[in-house]
Amino acid sequence: MISLHDKIALVTGGSRGIGRATALRLAEAGADIVLNYVSSRDEADRTAERIAEMGRRVAVVRADVSEQPDVQSMMEFVGETFGRLDILVSNAASGGFRPLLAATPRNFEATMNTNVRALLFLVQAAHPLLERARDRAKVVAISSHGSHMALPMYGLIGSSKAALESLVRHMALEFGDQGMNFNVVQAGLVPTDSTRLLPGAQQMFDARSYKTMTGERQLEATDVADAVLFLCSPLSDLVQGQTLIVDGGAAVHV
Ligand SMILES: NC(=O)c1ccc[n+]([C@@H]2O[C@H](COP(=O)([O-])OP(=O)(O)OC[C@H]3O[C@@H](n4cnc5c(N)ncnc54)[C@H](OP(=O)(O)O)[C@@H]3O)[C@@H](O)[C@H]2O)c1
Repeated sequence: MISLHDKIALVTGGSRGIGRATALRLAEAGADIVLNYVSSRDEADRTAERIAEMGRRVAVVRADVSEQPDVQSMMEFVGETFGRLDILVSNAASGGFRPLLAATPRNFEATMNTNVRALLFLVQAAHPLLERARDRAKVVAISSHGSHMALPMYGLIGSSKAALESLVRHMALEFGDQGMNFNVVQAGLVPTDSTRLLPGAQQMFDARSYKTMTGERQLEATDVADAVLFLCSPLSDLVQGQTLIVDGGAAVHV
């Protein structure tokens, strides 16, 4: 049984999808939660209510993680409210699904700023709080198969995920000996608001279903959250700078 009692965890993009499942999972394990969102206040509040019903402390913080001042203010709030940070899950991501020939400079920057640069700002701002973590501090970023495979309309997001995974490895190199772990969970296709908008979503889900080695059981946000929970726990203290793939075996074969 993993216990995160007395741990403070911040989950970016915790209002919906994988972020929400992760926030709930960490809270079930005993952590107090800082739940970040950018636009879905009602969804964030509903998630926070479920966390509070578990008896955990929960704070909902609006911050656009692509904006450094927002990230800085959020970490100042965490410092003033909790005094430290034990777990940081960088989950929030965005970026429209579009062909590369149609990608504008603004599209490119928005995707990179939310999906990659945000982690740099988050860790820079959180570093003094992570140094005060109760045990080893844990930083987990959420990536996708697009970091190493080509997917339709996914060029901007996929390349941002490749950069994200590299950034995590370099953070592990630079801070890994300062009582902090930096790892990635690379998720397969999960039904969430963002993937339901994917062009050809149903065909992709059908193809994944064929490749996944779990029979009728499909990959859910909670499966990804379980892997994040492991990487946020003392059970993974010796796991550093790695990418854990959670996809039911879909990526093993062509
Ligand atoms: N779903 C999949 O199949 C899949 C597969 C592999 C990896 N992933 C990764 O898993 C993570 C979550 O994806 P999801 O499918 O759960 O997405 P989702 O359901 O679309 O939720 C996205 C979350 O990110 C938040 N967000 C977006 N931009 C933000 C910003 N600038 N600042 C702060 N929060 C922001 C949203 O907040 P609001 O609710 O306030 O808008 C929302 O909570 C992403 O990193 C994604 O790339 C997903």
